[in-house]
Amino acid sequence: MPIRTQVAIVGAGPAGLVLAQLLHLRGIDSVVIENRSRSYVEQRIRAGVLEHGTTDLLTDAGVGERMHREGMVHNGVELLFDGEGHRIAFDELAGKGIMVYGQHEVVKDLIAARLATGRPLYFEVSDVVVDPAAAVVRFVHDGQPVELRADYIAGCDGFHGVCRPAIADLTVFEREYPFAWLGILAQAAPSSHELIYAYSPRGFALHSMRSPTVTRNYLQVAPDEDLDEWPDERIWSELRARLDRHGGFTLTDGPILEKGVTTMRSFVVEPMQHGRLFLAGDAAHIVPPTGAKGLNLAVADVKVLADALELFYVKGSDSGLAAYSTTCLRRVWRVQHFSWWMTSMLHRSRDGDPFEQQLQLSQLRYVVSSRAAATSLAENYVGLPLPG
Ligand code: FAD
Ligand code: DHB
Repeated sequence: MPIRTQVAIVGAGPAGLVLAQLLHLRGIDSVVIENRSRSYVEQRIRAGVLEHGTTDLLTDAGVGERMHREGMVHNGVELLFDGEGHRIAFDELAGKGIMVYGQHEVVKDLIAARLATGRPLYFEVSDVVVDPAAAVVRFVHDGQPVELRADYIAGCDGFHGVCRPAIADLTVFEREYPFAWLGILAQAAPSSHELIYAYSPRGFALHSMRSPTVTRNYLQVAPDEDLDEWPDERIWSELRARLDRHGGFTLTDGPILEKGVTTMRSFVVEPMQHGRLFLAGDAAHIVPPTGAKGLNLAVADVKVLADALELFYVKGSDSGLAAYSTTCLRRVWRVQHFSWWMTSMLHRSRDGDPFEQQLQLSQLRYVVSSRAAATSLAENYVGLPLPG
């Protein structure tokens, strides 16, 4: 069955769904296809920190109402090392804060908005094949083969999708890290008003949250860490040890709702476009999670793409599309640097290299004592302005 649209969007994660909404608001037609079920993508626990520009964009796109009601505005984070906590005050240093609101909640809001437009969003498709030259996407939906013909394809299908492998000549830039994060979501009140990034001799730990009754915590572990070796008591006791400070710290625990290990890598492909296929979000780049940037970078890409497509359909100019990759990559590399820097500063290497540890401590002391250094962290963390 052939169908026709202006933009075929592969993947209903944050990148694909935000793009679909931005295009809808600009009167541009799209079809979104997703290989998972609606409930799977709505329950996939991932990011939790939204940059200021991301919240503005979601608000302007008409999908910010629940986020403003249920999300938590944070005006700083704490860096904890040598038993002392040091606050980085985003509002004072960068003039804005961040929003703590789960990625799966953003995804739920975007799916509801998409369905309300009446424009197509197909879940549980299979056998997806993209043709970047012809802008054709073939897939199976409800047992029927479908041929989707478009002007352009947006490859928003994440790191393991089919769009990036459909491009032959890509330059890959990559770095793997010798550690991973064990993340938990727990039914427990947060033990701090703001996020805590802890550098400890036992390894990195992060105390975060999702609501006044749900906390999210991460521990640096080995990349091949076996989750079976981490019963709940061990996780809580390790978090307590790493988050401890002079004067003590009380960590509230509770039933663990979700547990998983995430490996960490930096990854970029250049260019982010080939023929009529444009890659956006994790399909084109991955950052280690320490700077809380992945979702935000995905949103920045699709803002550039939506503006470029609007220029094409409204003014007949393809200059925005031609510049897409270059425009996006400037921000991608800034964010890559920030995420690599935060990761390198806060994690202990397994061999316990004492020289590296002194450099990390020196960097941490500098960041919390120099207004210039703290401002640099703050403005990158809350997010540099979105292009356009
Ligand atoms: P994805 O969310 O991966 O979406 C891609 C979609 O495409 C998926 O729904 C997938 O099912 C679908 N798909 C795949 N293949 C196909 C196919 N063949 N056909 C159709 N559909 C397909 N980022 C932050 O900004 N802040 C944070 O605090 C943060 N913390 C994180 C913590 C963890 C533990 C993890 C794992 C990630 C974190 N990230 C964070 C990163 C963030 O989650 C990702 O960068 C973000 O999901 C990227 O969005 P995306 O839409 O590009 O890709
Ligand atoms: C969260 C994840 C991150 O990667 C981060 O840097 C801060 C918070 C979170 O899931 O809450």
